[in-house]
Amino acid sequence: MLIKFTIITLFPEALRPYLDSSMLYKAQDRGIIGVEYVNLRDFGLGPHKSVDDTPYGGGDGMLLRCEPIFAAIESIKQQSPEAEVILPTPVGMVWNQALARQFAVVGSYGAPGAYSGTAEPTDQGLTTNAPGEPSTAAKRHFVILCPHYEGYDERILTLVDHQISIGNYVLTGGELPALIIIDSITRLLPGVLGGATSAEIESFSEGENLEYPQYTKPAEFRGMAVPEVLLSGHHGKIAEWRTEQSRQRTASRQKSENL
Ligand code: ADE
Repeated sequence: MLIKFTIITLFPEALRPYLDSSMLYKAQDRGIIGVEYVNLRDFGLGPHKSVDDTPYGGGDGMLLRCEPIFAAIESIKQQSPEAEVILPTPVGMVWNQALARQFAVVGSYGAPGAYSGTAEPTDQGLTTNAPGEPSTAAKRHFVILCPHYEGYDERILTLVDHQISIGNYVLTGGELPALIIIDSITRLLPGVLGGATSAEIESFSEGENLEYPQYTKPAEFRGMAVPEVLLSGHHGKIAEWRTEQSRQRTASRQKSENL
């Protein structure tokens, strides 16, 4: 396994349908990533398994308390001391493709040869571990702590390695950010996407350039024709056209962002 994601959440049922579909399902099925859910409620206090309380100093809503969060993370870290804790929060660093790429870098953490079943990146390209080799430790382990309610006690930040915002707007909880973070990291891992280069040529892979427009059959649909150059078979001209389209798209998007 390359990356293990442990998600601490009060709402695992909100996450499962997405993570158990399509490419993220395949990435788990192929042993490239592992996903584990920890229900924060299991670490709640008292007979009601309480996880939140009112803010000191007054104010609206409830905050997640320290005790359940510390207990949940400490129990994970006991097994996996190198795990990195991510906190989705609107005050965090804004997530982008460059960060996704950094988080998808898998170093030497974990038992050597722990990754098995599918292709493993090496200096020589992709190799496969011997069949039957145990797949236990991940090379990188992210614990994503999903806040909910109005927020959290600030003291939990002492446990956190990465505070991540997925954009300048406010959501009701950390579950959607967790899905976005996991999805954007996983698709960059070797063996997840079909084409070897599809992750490389896509939007944002080259710095902040957007991808050129693409077309498939039919060549004409309801009067809309595929650009002639793409049917020409002339690879040089096609590459040139794509580069230019990508440049134009990037420039016009940057303009609209400055409105
Ligand atoms: N929690 C609430 N809003 C968020 C955002 N924009 N990014 C990350 N976590 C959040």
